[in-house]
Amino acid sequence: MAVIKKVKTKNDTSKNIFEILRESHEVQRDLSEKLIKTSGDSEERRHLFTLLKNELFAHAVAEDRYFYIPLMMTDAGLNITRHALSEHHEMDELLEQLSQTEFSNPGWLSIAKKLSDTVHHHLKEEEHSFFQQAGKILDEKQKEKLAKQYHAEYIKYLEKEKDALS
Ligand SMILES: [Fe+2]
Ligand SMILES: [Fe+2]
Repeated sequence: MAVIKKVKTKNDTSKNIFEILRESHEVQRDLSEKLIKTSGDSEERRHLFTLLKNELFAHAVAEDRYFYIPLMMTDAGLNITRHALSEHHEMDELLEQLSQTEFSNPGWLSIAKKLSDTVHHHLKEEEHSFFQQAGKILDEKQKEKLAKQYHAEYIKYLEKEKDALS
């Protein structure tokens, strides 16, 4: 819980979109690494899974809307956006599979490892490739405005009841 609290209470007024996206990426890496060290139907596994699921969900909603959609409207940003959105969808499906599998099922961990690998691959690609390309497309004003919009949306969806979304 402490990790989430840290992200939520930071003062984000002067950050640009890349700095603020990276904050959630750190949380995702940390939680997915901890999650694949759990075993069986334990409190720890249940707790970490809920935190990771909520983090990935809120981050993806806000990132889709206040990072990728504006990029998608440009020719130079179209391909990276398509690629990123398909990986968001892939992570969504793995989260769904995990939600539908008993925590005690021996297969649970292999799905969790697949999710962790996908998360790590995706974040690396964003930070080492997509962000550089986006940096050339967005101007400084947009980078700061999107950071504020992203952050407000992220907080909203972090607190939202996930099953209520339809
Ligand atoms: Fe991201
Ligand atoms: Fe992403």
